[in-house]
Amino acid sequence: MELIYEGKAKRVYKLNNEWLVMEFKDEVTAFDGLRKEVAIGKGRLAAAQTAFFMSYLEGNGVRTHFIDWDGDRRITVRALRIVPIEVIVRNYAYGSFLKRMPMVKPLTRFSKPLVEFHLKSDELHDPLLTMDDITEAGLLTREELQEIINTSLRVNDLLTNLLSTRGLILVDFKLEFGFDGSGRLLLADELSGDTMRILRNGKHLDKELFRMGASAMDLVKAYAELNALLGIKS
Ligand code: ATP
Ligand code: TYD
Repeated sequence: MELIYEGKAKRVYKLNNEWLVMEFKDEVTAFDGLRKEVAIGKGRLAAAQTAFFMSYLEGNGVRTHFIDWDGDRRITVRALRIVPIEVIVRNYAYGSFLKRMPMVKPLTRFSKPLVEFHLKSDELHDPLLTMDDITEAGLLTREELQEIINTSLRVNDLLTNLLSTRGLILVDFKLEFGFDGSGRLLLADELSGDTMRILRNGKHLDKELFRMGASAMDLVKAYAELNALLGIKS
C-alpha cells in the first residue's frame, strides 16, 4: 500500500481509488507536538474506539467513512475530500473554551450543546471561525454547514446517551467531515480518547491525562479502562 500521508496520530495509506487504510500510531503528542512519547498499545485501543463509535453511529443513521477494523491498529475507510474544518461540540466548559472565556467556571454545564468551528491549520494554531467566515471563503454552503451542525448535534446526543449508560460524561469532542464522490457529507477521521474528553467520577479517560502530565503508560491504561467499560474487545 502506498503511504499518502503521515500525521501526528495516524498514517494514511491508499488501498484503492475509493478506500484508504488509516493506521493509528503507538504515540501520543500534545501541545502542537511539543510533548511526544511512545505509547505501546495506544494505536490498537484508539482504532478499536473509533471502530466502536463509528459503527454505533452508522447503526443509528449517521453516515460515516468507516468500513472495517483489522482487530489491531488499522481501519479501512472511504477516501473523502476532507473539509478543512474541525467541528467541536461542547457540553461542559473546558480546554480552549476556558482560555477565551476565563470568566466561566471549569466544567460548567452549558444550557445547550455548543458547536464551534476551527480552521484545520497547525501553522495558524487552528483559529476559531464564524459561520460567515466559512461560507464567504467558499469552504461550505449554508446548507452544507447546517447539515454538519445537525449531524454533529445528533452525534452528541447518541454518544452522550451511550456513554451515560456506563457512568461516563462526555465533556467535548472534535469531528471532521468529508465529501464522497457523489457529493454526500460523511463523518470522517477518528473518535477516540485523543479527540474526545470523557470523565468517569471526575477522572479523565482521554488524552487530557497526558496533557495534565500523566505518563504515556498511564494514558494507555486509561484507554484500556474506557474500552473495558464500553465492552470494546481490544
Ligand atoms: P490534524 O488532526 O490536525 O489534521 P494530523 O494531520 O496530525 O493533525 P492525523 O490524525 O495524524 O492528523 O492524520 C490523519 C489525516 O487523515 C487527517 O489530516 C485527516 O483529516 C485525514 N482523514 C481522515 N479521514 C479521512 C478520509 N476518510 N479521507 C481522507 N482523509 C481523511
Ligand atoms: P479544545 O478545548 O478546543 O482544545 P484544547 O484541546 O487545545 O484544549 O478541544 C475540544 C475537544 O476537541 C477536545 O475533546 C479535544 C478535541 N480536539 C481534537 O481532537 N483535536 C484538536 O486539534 C483540538 C484543538 C481539539
